[in-house]
Amino acid sequence: MFSVVIPAAGIGKRMNSTRPKQFLEINSKPILAYTLEKFSKIKVVSEIVISTSKDCFSEVEQIVSKISFINFKIVEGGKERQDSVFNGLKACKNQDFILVHDGVRPFVNENEILEVFKKAQELGGAILAVKVKDTIKFGENGLVKETPNREKLWSVQTPQGFRFEVLFEAERKAKEQNFYSTDESALVEKYFPSQKIGIIEGSYSNIKITSPEDLILAEKLLQLSMNSEQ
Ligand code: C5P
Repeated sequence: MFSVVIPAAGIGKRMNSTRPKQFLEINSKPILAYTLEKFSKIKVVSEIVISTSKDCFSEVEQIVSKISFINFKIVEGGKERQDSVFNGLKACKNQDFILVHDGVRPFVNENEILEVFKKAQELGGAILAVKVKDTIKFGENGLVKETPNREKLWSVQTPQGFRFEVLFEAERKAKEQNFYSTDESALVEKYFPSQKIGIIEGSYSNIKITSPEDLILAEKLLQLSMNSEQ
């Protein structure tokens, strides 16, 4: 069994919308609902902790009330995504493993979630990622500095899974030192450098809905997934 933390406290700056992106609707259903449903259907999930802002508690309560899963918890998020994840971890009941997944990635599938869990059990840590399609450059002050070898580059997604104590301790140290990163793995890499973290190759459809054009893509992806279920 494992616990899940879903950070959903973002304000959606890049969406140019007054509503946080996790509450925008596709086919009359909030994005966050699709994400939560995915995890709620997995038998080895023991609890789902959602971090969100105080103003959004009632909206999240509404969403979870429509999902048949008994162990949801709603906690207050923080200033940065990492703070929201840490608050979620603090609310988790003792489980050996934890998976963290962005509230705005509704297209993850059960197989990917279980593969990350399996790898985390085997190694202590695992992340879902896809190979980068574009050539990536390091740039500084508007000038190209360097071109890393694309063969070794991964575009990182969630879920990311870890032995609970390892991630909790990494988050605690990061907070203490005011070190911030945009994913959980980076904290474990920094504070537990000998910890192996496996890469599970995921799918390009596991998008993070961030900007307005992602919503258009999300509508198409939803249609596709509904057609394949029929
Ligand atoms: O900020 P980013 O686009 O990477 O957000 C990824 C996820 O983290 C989203 O689900 C968002 O709601 C969440 N988040 C959060 N707390 C913040 C900022 C983002 O829970 N302070």
